[in-house]
Amino acid sequence: MTLETGAAQDIRISTTSWFDPFDPTLHADPYARYTAAREAGPVCDGPYGLTVLTRHHDISAALRDNRLGHGRPTAENRIFSFLGQDPPAHGPLRRVAARFFSPSAVAALTPRIGGYVDELVDRALDLGHLDLLADFAYPLSLRVICGLFALPEEDHPWIRERTPPIGRLLDPAYSISDADKKAARSAAAGFVAYLLQQIEHRRHRPGDDVLSALIADTPDALTRRDLIPMCALLLLAGYETTANIIANSALSLLRHPDELARARTRVRRGQLDRRAMDELIRYDSSVQITFRTVQEEAELAGRRLEPGRPVALLLGSANRDPRVFPDPGRLDLDRSPNPHLSFGAGIHYCLGGPLARLEAGLALGRLLHRSRVLGLTDPQPRHKDLTATIRGLAALPVSVA
Ligand code: HEM
Repeated sequence: MTLETGAAQDIRISTTSWFDPFDPTLHADPYARYTAAREAGPVCDGPYGLTVLTRHHDISAALRDNRLGHGRPTAENRIFSFLGQDPPAHGPLRRVAARFFSPSAVAALTPRIGGYVDELVDRALDLGHLDLLADFAYPLSLRVICGLFALPEEDHPWIRERTPPIGRLLDPAYSISDADKKAARSAAAGFVAYLLQQIEHRRHRPGDDVLSALIADTPDALTRRDLIPMCALLLLAGYETTANIIANSALSLLRHPDELARARTRVRRGQLDRRAMDELIRYDSSVQITFRTVQEEAELAGRRLEPGRPVALLLGSANRDPRVFPDPGRLDLDRSPNPHLSFGAGIHYCLGGPLARLEAGLALGRLLHRSRVLGLTDPQPRHKDLTATIRGLAALPVSVA
């Protein structure tokens, strides 16, 4: 916005709108605020000197622009391996992990994941009510990812407890309080000790699992120093995000009874179909934002940015940009095309996309297929305030029959 005052002096004061991605009240309903920011302009200013991009076109370009990156790994984000690394370190590490998450490797998991879902649905139907997050989505996503690593089932609750403080590190270090950093470091230290123990076990008794395969890759494709962050990234990235997308999607359907009825007709071989699943992932993603730092001078959305400038990319706002999605606030399970940015883009494009779609598709598909009634028992479930990055509910109590 340009304000013109004083004809004689013609003083021009240039201001842009303000957007605080770390405002904890944003979680209740970010979408109205995204709309206001997006319509005010493609760029907003934010705290910590942040340049905040609001529109799909610019965010999509920024995700693919290697002049933006992460710089040197900090003590805080080192645990997230290649997620926080720039080229040339990024590519070789990503390739080590990629083979476990290819569409064909993931498709082979269908019977196993379907079996887990069926057990959880059996239990839900017996009880008649459940917290769809704590009693369904979390145990499922934990079992899937820990299953890939062959981590003993009795350890899952311990892993579950450790992850929220570590997940805090998904936000940039400058936005995290010293107390939260301390809690995260201590949880991460416990997690690292646990992984070292598991690695030691597996060295003696290798199995047919991702951890054994990664150990076999060390030190040729993977240095010893990279092994632990790689395991931590794969375990943590796939767990909180997927559990929350299952619950967010269930809530979206429960709030749109027509689409819920339509979803029931869109279950194929126990799985919600891809188009419907992608619309749910667009509509209320479990990852709302990602951050970068300018590494080389760049012009973004018409603004020249110097090296060192932190940038926030509002993925959740891009997903509701009317320039790309007609009637973006409408949940439309038939939406096509659907170029949402929930999985990012460019070199950091989510490695777990196929697994997330399969897992959430099976969870929602089987739940809908096997139940006649699914209803909210709390009409206004609260969102948690874990990080700016992750969007998820604190709980999702439902009745089921
Ligand atoms: C990267 C979202 C599930 C593993 C990303 C990024 C996003 C994302 C937005 C890019 C971050 C950036 O550019 O800064 C999601 C969502 C999920 C999900 C919304 C669930 C619905 C998973 C699963 C895994 C996974 C199941 C499996 C382990 C990864 C990894 C990266 C990544 C390893 C880093 C890729 C790289 O840096 O090259 N994810 N993710 N994600 N995701 Fe996911």
